[in-house]
Amino acid sequence: MNNEEKNLIYKGIPLPKEVHSAESLKYAEDFQVREDDVFVVTYPKSGTTWMQEIIPVILSDGDLTPIQTMPNWERMPWLEEMPALHLLDARPSPRGIVTHLPYRLMCSSFRQSKAKVIYVTRNPKDVLVSSFHFHSMATFLEDPGTFDEFLEKFLAGKLLFGKWCDHVRGWRSSELKGRVLYITYEEMLEDLRGAVVKFSHFLGKPLSEETIDTIVEKGCFKSMKNNTMSNYSLVPEGVFHKGKSEFLRKGVSGDWRNHFTAANEERFNSVYREQMKDADLKFPWDDN
Ligand code: A3P
Repeated sequence: MNNEEKNLIYKGIPLPKEVHSAESLKYAEDFQVREDDVFVVTYPKSGTTWMQEIIPVILSDGDLTPIQTMPNWERMPWLEEMPALHLLDARPSPRGIVTHLPYRLMCSSFRQSKAKVIYVTRNPKDVLVSSFHFHSMATFLEDPGTFDEFLEKFLAGKLLFGKWCDHVRGWRSSELKGRVLYITYEEMLEDLRGAVVKFSHFLGKPLSEETIDTIVEKGCFKSMKNNTMSNYSLVPEGVFHKGKSEFLRKGVSGDWRNHFTAANEERFNSVYREQMKDADLKFPWDDN
């Protein structure tokens, strides 16, 4: 399959055909949200898998069964991907659901509901680096080309789910007031325990100190790398070339410094500043 054949274009954004179809996207459009559904929203490579490790255990009051017995894509399915079709309707409440969809493409029942949302943002330079490696290992994604070429595609919004800044800005909609919690990947790295406590308060799911400790232990990078249900080792080699990169690759912040040239940094910063100029958002990475 050549690059062009790997994606479909859905309402202006490219999505990989491997996991999206006309049927799965129609399902997402018509989806009936329940008031106690919990949505985790991310631009790809911002910590989705990490949240799929933490949130299900909070929703099940500390029961580890979901992360020990179900692959991450089943325990907290993507709303827009094919597996959702046969998983979500029958699932008991409260359902944990992830999505990469931009806010403008969320179904009307979501907009009308009070279902809670956790939006995870990550330094877009690290998102870009993570995505570059992911594109080299996932055979269903277009070949990344050189790092310079990939950077231009990222800035132009030609990669999966469109422009990073549109995604981040769209999900700041005032319509979500009172039902959204914003957190960064970097905050989670710095203080995972604090993040877990925040999630439990926000979701109205009190946890014992012991359960919090367990979630932090299971949610750390090292444990997740050892969890067959979360490290994507169940995905066949023909789909993920694990020799090229691992899905759980480095799990750090600032790896962009090992990839960007001075020219890349200058180019990225100037486009980023332009795209975010009237956004009224301040992130920790904006100053460097
Ligand atoms: P890197 O490629 O920089 O290592 P997503 O799940 O949205 O696709 O994001 C994948 C990124 O999140 C990868 O980044 C992956 O290593 C990182 N990640 C997943 N679990 C993590 C954890 N427990 N701690 C830190 N980073 C994690």
